[in-house]
Amino acid sequence: MTQASSRKVLVLGSGGREHALVNACLTSPLVDRVAAAPGNGGMEMVVDCFALDIENPQAVLELVQTEGFDWVIIGPEAPMTTGLADVLRDAGIAVYGPGKKGAELEASKAVCKQFLADYQIPTADYAHFQALEPALAYLKACKYPTVVKASGLAAGKGVIICEDAQQAEAAVRDMMEHGKFGESGNEIVIEEFLEGEELSLMVLISGDQFVCLPPSQDHKRIGEGDTGPNTGGMGAYAPLDLVDESLMQTIEETVIKPTIKGLAAESIDFRGTLFIGLMLTKEGPKVLEFNVRFGDPECQVLLPLCETDPVDLMLAVSEGRLKPETVRIRPGAAIIVVIAAQGYPGSYNKGENIGLPVSLPEGVHIVHAGTRRSPTGQLLSNGGRVLGVVAHGDNLRAAATKAYAVCNQIEWPGATFRRDIGWRQLAREG
Ligand code: AMP
Ligand code: GLY
Repeated sequence: MTQASSRKVLVLGSGGREHALVNACLTSPLVDRVAAAPGNGGMEMVVDCFALDIENPQAVLELVQTEGFDWVIIGPEAPMTTGLADVLRDAGIAVYGPGKKGAELEASKAVCKQFLADYQIPTADYAHFQALEPALAYLKACKYPTVVKASGLAAGKGVIICEDAQQAEAAVRDMMEHGKFGESGNEIVIEEFLEGEELSLMVLISGDQFVCLPPSQDHKRIGEGDTGPNTGGMGAYAPLDLVDESLMQTIEETVIKPTIKGLAAESIDFRGTLFIGLMLTKEGPKVLEFNVRFGDPECQVLLPLCETDPVDLMLAVSEGRLKPETVRIRPGAAIIVVIAAQGYPGSYNKGENIGLPVSLPEGVHIVHAGTRRSPTGQLLSNGGRVLGVVAHGDNLRAAATKAYAVCNQIEWPGATFRRDIGWRQLAREG
C-alpha cells in the first residue's frame, strides 16, 4: 500500500500486544528502526527499550525528537487519554492511535453510550448517573440481572453484573459512595443485561475509510468453561465462525457505518483501531463497548492473520491513506493461550524463573506480556499475564494443538493457563 521511505518507529506499552506489534515492525520492510517504551523482558531481547512515563506527552515527545523517531504506535488506552497523539501530531510525527477526543469513547462509558444513542447504534438500554440517590432510586424499577458500570477507566474491573436489587445497590454504593474505582466511579452507567455470545471486532479506521480484521473471541474469565473472576484475557482466537458474511454485513450497516458517520459529525479524526465489543443477541448484534486500541490478547492472533503487511496497514491508517480494497487476510485460524502466574487475577508471585523451549514448531511463537530479565539474563515472571503462546494452523483445532504442545514445554512450575481456549467454536467444529 505504501511507497513511503523507511520509518523509525517507537511502540508504546509493555504487554503482549505491544510485543506482538514490535515483532510485526521488525519483520516489515517499511521500518528500519524499532524501539519500545517501556517494553518488557521479551522486547528487550530484540529492540531498544526506553524507561519512560508514557502517560507524560511532553516526555514522550522529547524522546521521540531526541532519538529521531518519525512514527509512534500507541498500544494501551491510558496514554491516548492524555492527548498524546494530538501532541505528537502537532509536532509532525505520524501516530497510530486517536487523540484525546477519540479516546473519550473508551475513557468514558457515559460518552460512549451517548455517542451510540446519538447515532442510533444498537446497544443495551441504559441510564447514567452522577449522584447516588437517583441511581439508587432507578434500581427499584430495573429488570434483573442488570449491569452496573463505572463510567471511567477501571482496567476491565468496573463492570458488575447484578442478579438482584441488593447486589446492584451494593455495586452502586461501592462505586459512588466508597470510591472503589476512584474517580472512575463518580459517574456510573446502569444498563440492560444482554444475553448472547460476545465477540471482539477490530476496525482499523482512518478518517472515512475502514477495514475490519477477522472477528475474534477473548476468554475473560480465569477458569475453564468461562468460570471464576474476570481477567485481562486468558486467550483468544480468530476468525470466529459465528460471523458469516451476512452477519458481517449487518454489523457494517448497523454499527460500523453509523460510527464512521458519527466520528465525522463529532469532528473526531480517528486514526487507529476501534475495538468494538459486541454481543450477538436474539435481536441482532449490539455494542457492549468501544475501546480505542487493539485488544490484548486479540491483537496477537490478528497480526498473524494479516496477509497484507499489518505494519503497512497501520502506517497507512496513521497517514490517512488507507485503501481498504487492497487488504488481504490469510486463510486458516490463529489462537493465543495466555500463560499467567498462579493466583492471578488475585495476588501472585513475581520474579520466578522461566525456561522457554529452545526451538518452536513452524507457525508458533511466544510473546512476552509480564516478564523481565535478571542482570544475568535469566527470564523472570514480572506480572499476572506473563506469556502468550500464539499459533497459526489450517483451522482452529490444528492451531490449538500446536499451541498447547508448546505451552506444555514451558518450564515454570508457577504457570497457569486455561486448557480450553476456543472451546465454544471447537465444540461447534466437532
Ligand atoms: P465492558 O468493559 O463494558 O466491555 O464490560 C466488560 C464485560 O462485561 C464485557 O466484556 C461483557 O462480558 C460484560 N458485559 C458488559 N456489559 C454487559 C451487558 N450489558 N450485558 C451483559 N454483559 C455485559
Ligand atoms: N481483550 C479485551 C481487551 O483488550 O480489552
